[in-house]
Amino acid sequence: MPREEPLLAPRPSSEQSSIRNAEEEDALLTGERTHRSGGSHRGWGFWRQVGLFAWALIATVAVIVIAVVYQHETSRAQSHEKEPWGPGGRPTGKRNLIFMVSDGMGPTSLTMTRSFKQLTQGLPADEVLMLDKHILGTSRTRSSSSLVTDSAAGATAFSCGFKSYNGAISVLPDHSPCGTVLEAASLAGYKTGLVVTTRITDATPACFASHVNLRQYEDQIAEQEIGEHPLGRVVDLIMGGGRCHFLPNTTDGSCRADERDLVAIAKEKGFSYISDRKGFDSLNGGTESRLPLLGLFAEKDIPYEIDRRTQNDVYPSLEEMARTALKTLSHATENSEQGFFLMIEGSRIDHAGHGNDPAAQVNEVLAYDKAFAAVLEFLEEDSTPGVLVATSDHETGGLAAARQLHDAYPDYLWYPGVLANASHSSEYAANELQDYLSQNPEKPAQETYTRSLLKKALGIEDATQQEIDSLLDPNSPIIPAYVFADMISRRAQIGWSTHGHSGVDVNIYASSSKDAWPLQGNHENTEVGAFLADYLGLDVSAITNRLQHSEYWSAASGPESGNVAAEDGKFSWLGNPFGDDVRTDGLDTYHGDFKRKRGLVGDECGCGSVH
Ligand SMILES: *[C@@H]1O[C@H](CO)[C@@H](O)[C@H](O)[C@H]1NC(C)=O
Ligand SMILES: *[C@@H]1O[C@H](CO)[C@@H](O)[C@H](O)[C@H]1NC(C)=O
Ligand SMILES: [Zn+2]
Ligand SMILES: [Zn+2]
Repeated sequence: MPREEPLLAPRPSSEQSSIRNAEEEDALLTGERTHRSGGSHRGWGFWRQVGLFAWALIATVAVIVIAVVYQHETSRAQSHEKEPWGPGGRPTGKRNLIFMVSDGMGPTSLTMTRSFKQLTQGLPADEVLMLDKHILGTSRTRSSSSLVTDSAAGATAFSCGFKSYNGAISVLPDHSPCGTVLEAASLAGYKTGLVVTTRITDATPACFASHVNLRQYEDQIAEQEIGEHPLGRVVDLIMGGGRCHFLPNTTDGSCRADERDLVAIAKEKGFSYISDRKGFDSLNGGTESRLPLLGLFAEKDIPYEIDRRTQNDVYPSLEEMARTALKTLSHATENSEQGFFLMIEGSRIDHAGHGNDPAAQVNEVLAYDKAFAAVLEFLEEDSTPGVLVATSDHETGGLAAARQLHDAYPDYLWYPGVLANASHSSEYAANELQDYLSQNPEKPAQETYTRSLLKKALGIEDATQQEIDSLLDPNSPIIPAYVFADMISRRAQIGWSTHGHSGVDVNIYASSSKDAWPLQGNHENTEVGAFLADYLGLDVSAITNRLQHSEYWSAASGPESGNVAAEDGKFSWLGNPFGDDVRTDGLDTYHGDFKRKRGLVGDECGCGSVH
């Protein structure tokens, strides 16, 4: 497949608008109002005539064009059941679909990472990310229950093509299951895969292969992912973290609530199981893989790329996992009529956003960009046609590539060099600090250690006494990981408005604008989901129908489990729908929230479970 080049040509900015912006900027600096209506009034009547004539002409032409297009469309609609496809034509024949999710990556993440890359690799200003060359459109991310989505509702929009509530794992606002593109692909004969850097039971991967009422039901998600699912096993390849939800609660490193050994059960179901770098390497880049494959390389998250790169012998990178998954799936479908569907997530861009850690984030985005390039390379070289679509579920952190540090009017700048000097994440530094403090109670030694840790891990040599005190105060309302992240962010003059998500539109990328033509421009996130199913010619609503009429009991959700929904039997396998204060539809309204007492930061961040 030839890769298509620049999908959106840059538009020259209008001179007038830049003049106006300059005027407004001056006004901000000087406190003067702008005078937009300058110029002479000579010839007003004449120009008015010209304007009216031009308007009439344009309107007439527009009416004719609309009439012709309408007639054309009506006649096409009669000969095709579905909407016509654009430039590339409706895809036919054997094909592959790779869907990439950059969890929590907003537009500013790209700006920040691009500048970081240029600085650290000595590149000119027009050397951009691979992603930058493949931007196609933007996605509106709100959920059914909020203008700011979470990853669960975000991924449900992709997997099912429907809006649902924050926390929903491929269930609708009425707590009924919706069929997913991965399930439909599997039942249509495609091979399927999920590759992530967080827990494989976390919201994004969960939404493709399981259904539960709340994302926190990760034990049940794990069960469904290995095939305890109304449709049977639908995933052929699993790679990521989250091993703890597959191990019995009697084992070290388990986070399951029960004694079920899902690894043993998966093996009984035919899965080949690998759990470390040695196992990963035994796949030999995918030529030696045996499907179904369960690869769980970390108890919870695979470390941030900034920390992983010094533990490359322990954890595979996202790019390595992506390449191996692609090779495995293309091998497995070599002689079949159908290709494969693969979802690859850069999961921890979001975590770096939650942690407000710009140094961790730029390295996560670069790792994702490499995986994106690897998929493009695969598509170019593979004989089966295919498309790569990539987007984010939402932005995280309210990231800003500027920050005002003082009362004085700020300089216009930020410093990528500060991020370049960090060699580890704030999360890593906080763990190191905690380890040290728990073994060394002496204050002077603690302070010396903290200063050397700041230098070694974060490249910071000018910590203030106040910053050190805050890191060492066991009663500080701000956890050390947040203090570390803030120390880097301030020095780099990078701003954050929240430790949670934000509502800004996110980017849509594709391997080719011809194939992904319907996603050009600004879209609802559900249209991304609709495209995925459409590209593979899948009928996801038929899967929804099957799920909604299935009588299914899973071991953990039957009537004896104490699950409220189990009482009437229907959909008991989705788990209890009555979480704390779960709004499923309609937006909340203002009720003086700003007056609410500040909770303890850290305890409330929910890091590690809810993103
Ligand atoms: C482990 O799971 C069993 C149920 O399978 C439960 O009875 C037991 O209390 C659990 N033990 C722990 C330590 O959570
Ligand atoms: C990065 O570290 C070097 C050496 O420690 C230091 O000289 C330089 O000022 C640092 N740069 C920034 C932007 O902090
Ligand atoms: Zn997310
Ligand atoms: Zn998140």
